[in-house]
Amino acid sequence: MSVTVVVGGQYGDEGKGKIISYLALHDKPEVIARGGGGPNAGHSVEYKGKKYSIRLVPSGLVEKEAKLAIGAGVLIDADVFLKEVANFELGNRCIIDRRATLITQEMKDLDAASENSKKIGTTKTGMGPTQAARASRTATTVESEPRLKKYLGDVPELVNSTKNVLVEGSQGFMLSNLYGTYPFVTSKDVSASTICAEVGLGPRKVKDVIMVIKAYTTRVGSGPMPGELSEEEAKKIGMQEYGTVTGRPRRTNPNLVWDEIKTAAMINSANYLAVTKLDVKFPKCAKKRKFDELDADAKAFVAEIEKKVGVKVGLIGTGADAEDIIDRRAVQ
Ligand code: GTP
Ligand code: IMP
Ligand code: MG
Repeated sequence: MSVTVVVGGQYGDEGKGKIISYLALHDKPEVIARGGGGPNAGHSVEYKGKKYSIRLVPSGLVEKEAKLAIGAGVLIDADVFLKEVANFELGNRCIIDRRATLITQEMKDLDAASENSKKIGTTKTGMGPTQAARASRTATTVESEPRLKKYLGDVPELVNSTKNVLVEGSQGFMLSNLYGTYPFVTSKDVSASTICAEVGLGPRKVKDVIMVIKAYTTRVGSGPMPGELSEEEAKKIGMQEYGTVTGRPRRTNPNLVWDEIKTAAMINSANYLAVTKLDVKFPKCAKKRKFDELDADAKAFVAEIEKKVGVKVGLIGTGADAEDIIDRRAVQ
């Protein structure tokens, strides 16, 4: 059995969607299973000129042969899920674990109205109140939503009986409820161990943990952000981004925060890093697909990451398309 887990190593929006779609197309997993968060996530995927903006279904969907599973730990907004199934023409490819929790309108309203949610700058998708209800055993599960009935199944049975599984997390390590910048975090832990538990895989099943980091740091919502630039400054150097779910401007630090990334790599037990947007930091790298074609500055940056974090950089993003990747996993 071969299980690869992909998690975020910063504040979310590291470009997990792009890395996952590449892995789905090249490693050909039979099942792609999503853990972590819920519709608070926003993953952007570009492939063959088409753009996908994904919140709930696995972002490896561009690999058409793979079955798509959503684990018991993921909070489900039925409207968001059904819209994605229709928009991406997923037909019967998707299965939601029957034990997953349903986000109701009441929970979304609570999240939108709460003073504490405003302080934290949540996505107002009902995540916090629903997770709290689950812990209090007052939440409803997806079995109470008739429109979801035909998608429900047993995700642990599926992933444990499949040879090649790709597991995708959401958000990023610094937003983990346990290890992030509490209280400015999301409502759940989002480290690799939890993501695996959420889709029903035990620790001995995992082969590779790929932690995705962007070549610089961004954050949406409140909380500490050392080295933060103004929107104007970030625009000047081409690093100003806007959120996929909320459209909010992301806060930018042009550098990596080494101690955070080292801790994230340790707790996730990452054996590979994937570094995205190297071409934003080093424009000469754009669209390169071979490591040898990178210029000296970019190569030195990759070497610096490996030295400081102590983990091999197995994948490098050099452009927006799912195929704009340098894959060094096989190189010793
Ligand atoms: P996750 O939440 O981690 O999945 O990231 P995200 O999808 O939220 O990030 P964002 O909304 O910033 O979208 C990423 C965008 O950048 C998408 O359009 C990707 O195609 C693109 N992108 C991803 N990786 C790279 C890269 O290495 N270089 C460039 N130029 N673009 C990239
Ligand atoms: P919540 O998850 O909606 O409760 O939001 C809590 C915090 O996590 C806020 O700062 C959000 O901006 C942030 N957050 C949640 N999901 C994501 C994500 O997918 N990307 C980036 N930030 C996120
Ligand atoms: Mg995102």
